[in-house]
Amino acid sequence: MLNWEDPLTGLTPQAAKPKALSASDFSDLLSDVTEAQQAPAISAPTRLPLNEPVQQGATGLEHIEIGAKRIQVDDKKIINCRADLNQLVPFKYRWAWQKYLDACANHWMPQEINMNADIALWKSADGLTEDERMIIKRNLGFFSTADSLVANNLVLAVYRHITNPECRQYLLRQAFEEALHTHAYQYVVESLGMDEGEVFNMYRELPAVARKAEWALPFTRSLGDPNFVTGTPEADQRLLRDLIAFYVIFEGIFFYVGFTQILSMGRRNKMTGTAEQFQYILRDESMHMNFGIDVINQIKIENPHLWGADFQQEITTLITDAVDIEIQYAHDTMPRGVLGLNAPMFEEYLKFIANRRCNQIGLSEQYVGAQNPFPWMSEILDLKKEKNFFETRVTEYQTGGALTWD
Ligand SMILES: [Fe+2]
Ligand SMILES: [Fe+2]
Repeated sequence: MLNWEDPLTGLTPQAAKPKALSASDFSDLLSDVTEAQQAPAISAPTRLPLNEPVQQGATGLEHIEIGAKRIQVDDKKIINCRADLNQLVPFKYRWAWQKYLDACANHWMPQEINMNADIALWKSADGLTEDERMIIKRNLGFFSTADSLVANNLVLAVYRHITNPECRQYLLRQAFEEALHTHAYQYVVESLGMDEGEVFNMYRELPAVARKAEWALPFTRSLGDPNFVTGTPEADQRLLRDLIAFYVIFEGIFFYVGFTQILSMGRRNKMTGTAEQFQYILRDESMHMNFGIDVINQIKIENPHLWGADFQQEITTLITDAVDIEIQYAHDTMPRGVLGLNAPMFEEYLKFIANRRCNQIGLSEQYVGAQNPFPWMSEILDLKKEKNFFETRVTEYQTGGALTWD
């Protein structure tokens, strides 16, 4: 435990005291920077015609306006907001702040989960069938890079364009959770002694895995362009399209075959440590998706002109195409029936999920009468049902990280 009265160890007085830099130090530093590394000249943002208001949002990096009028709740907007982005309060979107608090209360770490039984089972000659091994390997192959794709989309594409501090607070938490998820997959791969190169390269060597990554990347690339700014209907739709692609489809559809397969294994008392890792990840992912859906719907409320019939049709097609891709993934990871599961069950499940996703963002359902063949998945997703893990962990984190003041 930290105590403010403890002497600082490892820091000599010289090391602790920063050396004042002189003007020549700066010119020396600058001379080491090649022309290519120097910041490019910043060109003025593209302006709309004079009779239209400039809608482009702030980033939080603007000059501080000394003495400017204080921010009112009504000044805040989820995109294209000009109000100072560095002030968390007053809250406008309390759902975003609440999700941030909920996410923090659900904190967990991959190393807390005991992997011993998994290691013994994975290394035993006849503990798992070849089909079961394939499920584990291919899902680790997909997820070990998928969460990096999501994290990169957040920090390199989405974050800059969401002009609201309480939403950004959640995005920062989500970005950390994506790092934890990648850590969890790496931890499983390392614990089981798997071939890291094989697993982490699967997204560019195995078509079943590569197809989903390839589908997602163009959305990030579109927004990650440094010249991209929101503020026109076309640009705002690009942002909305990316949010739907990642929150509704990538995290909301593409994760579900893999999660169901691994959790089924855990329910049959196989690879229970790995299944537990996936269970906590699934819970985080479910919150990510719900946050994303709230953001998408808030953007629609504030910008109804973006949600026209053509755009709705385009998004519907995006979702149904994604269902086909994920059905293919179910076949590729499960060529035969295994663990009481088979690919046709996943077809039904994905159609059921896609109907829910359409509903959640205000589109009509595309698969009439699709049923949920895995009702137990809904129970796992319900945060209120199983809270023993978090009840103990929350207490430990809150006391373990506390500072003593006396
Ligand atoms: Fe994740
Ligand atoms: Fe996520």
